[in-house]
Amino acid sequence: MTVHFIGAGPGAADLITVRGRDRLAAADVVLWAGSIVSRDVLVHARPDARIVDTAPLSLDEIEAEFVRAESDGHDVARLQSGDLSVWSAMGEQIRRLERLGIPYTVTPGVPSFAAAAAVLGQELTLPEVAQSVVLTRTSGRASSMPPTETLAAFAATRATLAIHLSIHVVDRVVAELTPFYGADCPVAVVFRATWPDERVIRATLGTIEAALAADPIERTALILVGRALAADLVRESSLYDPTYQRRFRGRDDRAE
Ligand SMILES: C[S@@+](CC[C@H](N)C(=O)[O-])C[C@H]1O[C@@H](n2cnc3c(N)ncnc32)[C@H](O)[C@@H]1O
Repeated sequence: MTVHFIGAGPGAADLITVRGRDRLAAADVVLWAGSIVSRDVLVHARPDARIVDTAPLSLDEIEAEFVRAESDGHDVARLQSGDLSVWSAMGEQIRRLERLGIPYTVTPGVPSFAAAAAVLGQELTLPEVAQSVVLTRTSGRASSMPPTETLAAFAATRATLAIHLSIHVVDRVVAELTPFYGADCPVAVVFRATWPDERVIRATLGTIEAALAADPIERTALILVGRALAADLVRESSLYDPTYQRRFRGRDDRAE
């Protein structure tokens, strides 16, 4: 018996990895975070699998599901949204499994920031403009931010920011970022990227609050901020530059 943690991806059923889909399809029990993982992904589960929505469950109750599956000799697929490496609460579940001596595996997924960038049809990095992407959030009821990880500290670098779990405090985001990026800096809010009801709002730091007031979004959205999002900024990378190609392309590409 094994618990398989699986990054379910951003929403669309075909944005789970092949490994994740196969582990899900083989599982006797599926624990899924119904508040954020799209039900569409369950299409890959066995029709006779026991499906449990963990949204209303406590950690102790999730542990009880692991224990029950172990005593039944059942494999578990544990689905979490996007990828498991950020804000998945996988760590605390793994600690329980290790204490119980239950084996587990981890299968990564497509993170929401990558899905949102794909929806926009844009890179989040642009030569000479932004070469770093910061995955961050603002403090919430359940988790405060380390004091060094303020939006202002990240903004000082002018990197592209992918701000999670913060659509309800967009006014605070705007107030903290505007002194660094300027009111004309592009912002994109992507609601439920790859879900059937996906929405995109493009604005600037100066106009995003009014845009959201006219078209409210309350949850499951990413706020992307940075000059790299300006559609009219064209800076080509040197990757396809003829000089670069002469120097490196003629040689063994495996060296790259
Ligand atoms: C608990 S975090 C989980 C992040 C997830 N592990 C990931 O890899 O993206 C939930 C937040 O991720 C973002 N998010 C998750 N799925 C999303 C989607 N399909 N579209 C836009 N934002 C999403 C939202 O900011 C949401 O509030």
